[in-house]
Amino acid sequence: MQNRTIGGRAVSAIGLGGMPMSIEGRPDRDRSIATIHAALDAGVTLIDTADAYHQHADEVGHNEELIAAALRSYGGDTSGVLVATKGGHLRPGDGSWTKDGRPEYLKVAVKASAKRLGVEAIGLYQFHRPDPNVPYGDSVGAIRDLLDEGVIEMAGISNANPDQIREANDILGGRLVSVQNQFSPRFRSSLPELELCAQLGIAFLPWSPLGGIALARSGELGAEYAAFLEVAEAHGVSPFRVTLAWELALAPVVVPIPGASRPESVQDSAQAADLTLTDDEVARLSAAGA
Ligand SMILES: NC(=O)c1ccc[n+]([C@@H]2O[C@H](COP(=O)([O-])OP(=O)(O)OC[C@H]3O[C@@H](n4cnc5c(N)ncnc54)[C@H](OP(=O)(O)O)[C@@H]3O)[C@@H](O)[C@H]2O)c1
Repeated sequence: MQNRTIGGRAVSAIGLGGMPMSIEGRPDRDRSIATIHAALDAGVTLIDTADAYHQHADEVGHNEELIAAALRSYGGDTSGVLVATKGGHLRPGDGSWTKDGRPEYLKVAVKASAKRLGVEAIGLYQFHRPDPNVPYGDSVGAIRDLLDEGVIEMAGISNANPDQIREANDILGGRLVSVQNQFSPRFRSSLPELELCAQLGIAFLPWSPLGGIALARSGELGAEYAAFLEVAEAHGVSPFRVTLAWELALAPVVVPIPGASRPESVQDSAQAADLTLTDDEVARLSAAGA
């Protein structure tokens, strides 16, 4: 699998998003472990998670624990795997997602995440989502403190607009390494953030890169965007693989993190890193459905 970089660290060009294995509709534990192992077998070295990827109120960090367990039980070398987690979102257990961006909360949450992941320092910690009740600079200031104290090795943000990306990078003293925003053929509103990251040399991690769990599982991606289906047919591959290859082609800083709850999904997505689209195909896909 070809590599890209996050903060100078090499990671696989296609990552794995852990969320579908821990929220509503999740598979049983054995299938989740098999899915993570399939990703590792395919050469995936970036796994995205969050403390908020759980369903019930009493299982905060369900996904972090699952990933840590899968890494422990994997037969091969996992020393090159970067586990990127996030803090600042909560799930009270009623299906909702709430926010807490207070520095004192984030500083406690990060330690709980490190414990669940079984690491001294978290490889990449991302502030999950701006909290309208807390000045953005205060939340990012907490992330800077964690970086300075060595509690985390690299810092990222998520769901940020261009002004917030610049502000966060200033507060972090130029040490912002990643931005994770929603981006897919269907949701392109983060294109300005992607382009800013490309200018600044900051990794851009599209979340829900296949349009989200429900859409992707329905298999409708190709039906919605005929161009993706047609390019897929021309290459003899799935429209999901074409979608990820198109995202990779948009800028060298892009590292998609498709979610999965089945080994087959991971195995297919990972091969997007080896699919080269022509300039004409990329232009056609960029124009399609926009
Ligand atoms: N920062 C944020 O606020 C935020 C928000 C949402 C998500 N995320 C992150 O982004 C990751 C990805 O987003 P997502 O999981 O919401 O949506 P997604 O990646 O757009 O779609 C995930 C679904 O796509 C299916 N899939 C993946 N690869 C496939 C393939 N090659 N062929 C067929 N189906 C395939 C999987 O189905 P199966 O389940 O059947 O395998 C999976 O459930 C999440 O897991 C999470 O880590 C972050």
